[in-house]
Amino acid sequence: MRVGILGLGSYIPEKIVTNYDFEKFLDTSDEWIRTRTGIIERRFADETQATSDLATIAAKRALEDANLRPEDIDLIIVGTNSPDTLYPATACLVQDKIGASGKCGAFDLQAGCTGWVYAAVTGLQFIKTGAYKHVLVIGAEVITRLMDPTDKGTYVLFGDGAGAAVLGEVEEGGIIDFELYADGSISEHLVYPAGGSRKPFSEEVLKERGYYTKMNGNEVFKFSVREISRISKKLLDKTNTRLEDIDWFIPHQANVRIIQAGAEKLGIPMEKVVVTIDKFGNSSAATVPVSLDIIYKEGKLKKGDLVLMVSFGAGMTSGAMLMRW
Ligand SMILES: CC(C)(COP(=O)(O)OP(=O)(O)OC[C@H]1O[C@@H](n2cnc3c(N)ncnc32)[C@H](O)[C@@H]1OP(=O)(O)O)[C@@H](O)C(=O)NCCC(=O)NCCS
Repeated sequence: MRVGILGLGSYIPEKIVTNYDFEKFLDTSDEWIRTRTGIIERRFADETQATSDLATIAAKRALEDANLRPEDIDLIIVGTNSPDTLYPATACLVQDKIGASGKCGAFDLQAGCTGWVYAAVTGLQFIKTGAYKHVLVIGAEVITRLMDPTDKGTYVLFGDGAGAAVLGEVEEGGIIDFELYADGSISEHLVYPAGGSRKPFSEEVLKERGYYTKMNGNEVFKFSVREISRISKKLLDKTNTRLEDIDWFIPHQANVRIIQAGAEKLGIPMEKVVVTIDKFGNSSAATVPVSLDIIYKEGKLKKGDLVLMVSFGAGMTSGAMLMRW
């Protein structure tokens, strides 16, 4: 059975935050951010919006694109690191907001920025086994709220957004294969320290600003460049795919230097690489489905195109998926 994407949708909040906006309260500059990260601007969710709100808009667009109704969905998986609340799952809130309450299963999947790739691979299994027909897989984040506005090393990097895909049986093409990977021994490099069972919120957490993300940027950088090429190569070898046959390479958008170094190590020319970080920053689990939706809506993605998607993030995790459109 071939399983692929029946419909795609995304949503990026309207509020644009430029590098110049950060110059007003951080010891940073447009020049530094632009040259060290490739980011020119990013989007921040409106104060009234949480992750489920962004995810819902993307999900509705994906359903419309697939020409399906909410009740046609058998399972909703939301890959996110910034759920509305620790529980209930954001996927349950999305289920209600799209009008599918009580009609299907719904859960969140936390795999750092690799969340959507993990979610898509998980959804794929339910369809391949014949258990379900349609699975809605979403990558959605209001991750900027988990970043410290006084930390120039993280605050300038992130943006908010959501991307969604409806997976189901397709006649041609579809997801060819995947690779998932994690190395928990280096998880300390990217952590949201408080609010869980290890360190519940307290006065001490407030003092330490433990309610904000801590990142060891250099270590994450090295892991990311290594993983982009390692996991992609593994997937290409496994599927006997030649590099030159790839039409689109969609890497996670964390830093344009990571993207360039990863593509170079792999030997993929930049013309085939989808770059959206300049406009949207790093929207964590949303970057891959948003980037895919952008080339789809712009009409660049053609039937039969071979697409390699690869992501990496907290965990540390990484994942790659090869798909024929
Ligand atoms: C965070 C990151 C952009 C830093 O870039 P870098 O070129 O490696 O910079 P360094 O960490 O070596 O720091 C160099 C200097 O820039 C400074 N700096 C960091 N952020 C800055 C900013 N926004 N503006 C100005 N200066 C900044 C540092 O304080 C440091 O100053 P020092 O040398 O005086 O101590 C880069 O490491 C990165 O992108 N890492 C991966 C992040 C990531 O992918 N996260 C998400 C994973 S899903």
